Amino acid sequence: MRHGDADLPTLVVLISGNGSNLQAIIDAIAHGSLAARIAAVISNEPDAGGLERARRAGIPTRVVCHRDHAGRSEFDRALAVEIEGFAPDLLVLAGFMRILGADFVRRYPGRILNIHPALLPRFRGTDTHRRALEAGVAEHGASVHVVTEELDAGPVIRQARVPVLPDDDPDTLAARVLAEEHRLYPAAIAEYLSRLSVAPTASQQD
Ligand code: GAR
Repeated sequence: MRHGDADLPTLVVLISGNGSNLQAIIDAIAHGSLAARIAAVISNEPDAGGLERARRAGIPTRVVCHRDHAGRSEFDRALAVEIEGFAPDLLVLAGFMRILGADFVRRYPGRILNIHPALLPRFRGTDTHRRALEAGVAEHGASVHVVTEELDAGPVIRQARVPVLPDDDPDTLAARVLAEEHRLYPAAIAEYLSRLSVAPTASQQD
C-alpha cells in the first residue's frame, strides 16, 4: 500500500536567488530518489528566480524580505513565524545568503542543512571560488553541513570534489562545482533524513 504525501518528511527550503539547487531537490523528489515533501519555499529576495521554480512545481512560496525588518533578530523572528506555519522536519538552505542568528539556529537544533560551495573547513564565508584559485588548490568542491551557531562550521554530512583546471577563473570553477552540488544536495538530504529517523520506513513506502 502506498501512503499519501502526509507520511513524508517535510522540508522548508530557504533561497535567495536562482534556485538551481532547489530545482535539483524538486527533481530528485519527482524522480523518487528523495522521499520528502517540500512544504514551502521561502525567499528573502522578492525577485529570486527560485520562487518561479517553486510555483511551477506547485509549491507554496513566501517572501520575508530582510530589508523590511529593522535588524537581523527582527528578520529572523519574522522568518521563524513563516516557517512555523509549515512545521517542517528539516530546514534546507539552498543558496540562502543571509546569516541566521544564534537564537534562530537554536530553534531548530540539528534540523537545518546548508550547502556551501567549498570543501569545508577550507574557505568558509563568501567568494569561495576566487579564494580557492588564489590559494592554488588542486581540488575544490562543495559541502553539505548541519547549521550551527558558528558560520559554515557545523558537522559535514557529505562533500563533492572537482579538479581545479589550469585555465579556470571563478566562473568556470563555480559552474563545475554547481553541477556537483545538484547531485550532492538531494543525496545528502536523503541520508540526513534517514539519520533523523523522519524518513518513511520501507513498509510505509510500499
Ligand atoms: C550555490 O553555489 C550555493 O552553494 C551557494 O550559492 C549558490 C546558489 O545557487 N551558497 C552559498 O554561497 C551559501 N553561503 P542556486 O541558487 O542556483 O542554488
